[in-house]
Amino acid sequence: MNNTSTDSTSGLLAGKVAFITGAGRGIGAAAARLFAREGAEVLLAARTEEQLKAVTEEVRAAGGTADYVVCDLADAAGVRAAVDRAVDLYGRLDIAFNNGATIQRPGPMDQLPEAEFDHVCTVNLKSVWVAMVAEVAAIRATAGSGAIVNNSSVGSLRGNPELPVYGATKRAVNSLTESAAVTYGPEGIRVNAIAPGGTLTEMIRTWEAESPGVLDRIKAQTPLRRTADPDEIAEAAAWLLSDRSSFVTGTVLRVDGGARA
Ligand SMILES: NC(=O)c1ccc[n+]([C@@H]2O[C@H](COP(=O)([O-])OP(=O)(O)OC[C@H]3O[C@@H](n4cnc5c(N)ncnc54)[C@H](OP(=O)(O)O)[C@@H]3O)[C@@H](O)[C@H]2O)c1
Repeated sequence: MNNTSTDSTSGLLAGKVAFITGAGRGIGAAAARLFAREGAEVLLAARTEEQLKAVTEEVRAAGGTADYVVCDLADAAGVRAAVDRAVDLYGRLDIAFNNGATIQRPGPMDQLPEAEFDHVCTVNLKSVWVAMVAEVAAIRATAGSGAIVNNSSVGSLRGNPELPVYGATKRAVNSLTESAAVTYGPEGIRVNAIAPGGTLTEMIRTWEAESPGVLDRIKAQTPLRRTADPDEIAEAAAWLLSDRSSFVTGTVLRVDGGARA
């Protein structure tokens, strides 16, 4: 799975310029490494510069093309500037993975402070809208056609009493994904979402730290009886962003080890 050689001429994403949010660690970092191995030039975005720098250097050391931009998804102007940076750097934008998001503190909805509700909505939902609008404009102005993948969650697909606002923002992302697919399909811009199940990253470790036992519960409810490696989630995003999925748009693809089957 961790093949480290880079192929910029014949990979799945050869010749494409990719913008990836939340790329400093977890699924986004795995996506940055994978997309670059598959031939894309990648621009990584997140808030923590040391993490972005480390992943960028790793990609470059493996022979790939990467750069990063520090950006807070809660800052709409910053998100637009980050998307534009891809065009400034590489001259075009073909594909985007809107992956960055925050978890809420777990617990019933009556326990969540109003300010945290607003923050989760801004980072997990509004930023996806802001990014998609900027990405569509950049794709239209440069590559002409392209593809966008939004990172949702299986937690969006039914009631989510432990992470109710997180789940609501992700279900709204599914809706925005479908609407964008319908709106931009006629001009050759495909828009899909992935809905990962439990994946071993800092996000789920934070949840486990606050709700001990959640990881074992997730594994028990997953037919494959394990969590995902971030690479396995990145693979689904890569396929949806590649020309190999050329007739797929408006879908929310579960990548969940069968958890919602
Ligand atoms: N792990 C799972 O089990 C799971 C399951 C379903 C869906 N997902 C989804 O997968 C995606 C990636 O999550 P992950 O599991 O890889 O989590 P992670 O390891 O915590 O990574 C999250 C990334 O998003 C960035 N981010 C968070 N808040 C941000 C903000 N305000 N502005 C800019 N960047 C921000 C983080 O960087 P900074 O903190 O440096 O900004 C980091 O790079 C998310 O959309 C998540 O909802 C995860």
